[in-house]
Amino acid sequence: LDLRRPKMARALEFRSRAARVVREFLWERGFLEVETPMLAKSTPEGARDFVVPSRLQPGKFYALPQSPQLYKQILMVAGVDRYFQLARCLRDEDLRADRQPEHTQIDLEMALADEEEVFSLAEGLMARLWRELLGLELETPFPRLTYREAMRRYGSDKPDIRFGLELSDYTEEFRGTEFRVLRGIIEAGGRAVGFTYPGDLTRRELDELTDFVKELGGGGLLWMKGEKGPLAKWARFRPEGTLLLVADAEPKVYELAGALRLEVAKRKGLVPQGEFKFLWVTEFPLFEWNEETRRVEPMHHVFTMPREEDLGLLDELERGNLEVLPELRGRQYDLVLNGVELGSGSVRCHDPKLQRRLLRIAGIDPEPFSFLLEALEFGAPPHAGIALGFDRLVALMLGLPSIRDVIAFPKTTSGAGLMEGSPSEVDPELLKELRLL
Ligand code: AMO
Repeated sequence: LDLRRPKMARALEFRSRAARVVREFLWERGFLEVETPMLAKSTPEGARDFVVPSRLQPGKFYALPQSPQLYKQILMVAGVDRYFQLARCLRDEDLRADRQPEHTQIDLEMALADEEEVFSLAEGLMARLWRELLGLELETPFPRLTYREAMRRYGSDKPDIRFGLELSDYTEEFRGTEFRVLRGIIEAGGRAVGFTYPGDLTRRELDELTDFVKELGGGGLLWMKGEKGPLAKWARFRPEGTLLLVADAEPKVYELAGALRLEVAKRKGLVPQGEFKFLWVTEFPLFEWNEETRRVEPMHHVFTMPREEDLGLLDELERGNLEVLPELRGRQYDLVLNGVELGSGSVRCHDPKLQRRLLRIAGIDPEPFSFLLEALEFGAPPHAGIALGFDRLVALMLGLPSIRDVIAFPKTTSGAGLMEGSPSEVDPELLKELRLL
């Protein structure tokens, strides 16, 4: 940290003022700021835990909290109706520009609340921050998209809607085509998805975009412009510009097309700067199939309430029918700003029986959660909440590319604290005392 670097000093001042606005806003609405433990219990879900050995109980470990999720739910049962905290969250993940091993969330939870209350509260908070700190009026309510619509139109569950290039499905257009590769993919159940760039792309740009798609694991890029390009011979229509198309199985085809959309917008300078486009993404699938672990996993976390109309599909899933996965939606929502996942939350499962079922479906041992299940047995009020990434929020407000620019003493990508030189070896005596040696 170099406070003489005016940029860092200004970012930290801005961050501090933002924290004050958050506290004032929530305080005015009856929220209680509660600090939850940093020495917590390791649970078998979420990211990898950072662990701390216990000296008093040798051989046992605390986990640093990945989020106060369980604590805030217990607070709801305990009668704290409106909770918030600027919570430090610690996760042993691989790092990127918008990910740090420790980050701060504006974490909040409300008893007797549903989606609508969480949405209007978060929208009010964003509007207040933008007004007080940037002098800008945000338009509320924010637009909403279902997960399915977001994937189909933008190829992303965190769409950047500051520019167009919306995706379209060209599968039917090319079904039965003589173009062998495309036909094969479509006959195998895959889809052809793409968008029209309203202008010219050079041969070199098209080659680079093809490489871009291949690097993401796609087969390649199909394109046409007027009578030119590999698709021109087979298409029965002519696009108003350059049509860029990828063909693959679902959901990969959307991921490829979505990434291509962002890449083209970036290269061609279509992303307006200084604009803030919020939206809610709703109706996420409750579970997804993880090909690596070959298991059904919660899309958000296992404490999310299924949508009532989809409960029948839960029976199907329990019978082992994985095909219902995309249809079985949870009451989960994300707040997205300029293509960044700013926050995530859900209406929680407050029914202990249903919660046990969800854990069972996710293959998670219920034992480590017995304190939550027990608390729910006492009769928990329905509750809902959200956590907004505070570092991401401040970085986006300031138009800075990395959350490292708004964090005092951030870690490098290899998790090092450069100033103090962490992590470091410790005195072997200490390790002996902790029975780690
Ligand atoms: P989730 O894990 O989605 O939800 O986190 C909420 C928000 O926190 C931010 N965030 C991060 N920021 C920087 N570095 C990280 N490593 C990092 N990880 C997450 C993101 C994200 O949207 N307990 C739930 C919330 C809830 O259900 O109420 C939770 O932690 O902006």
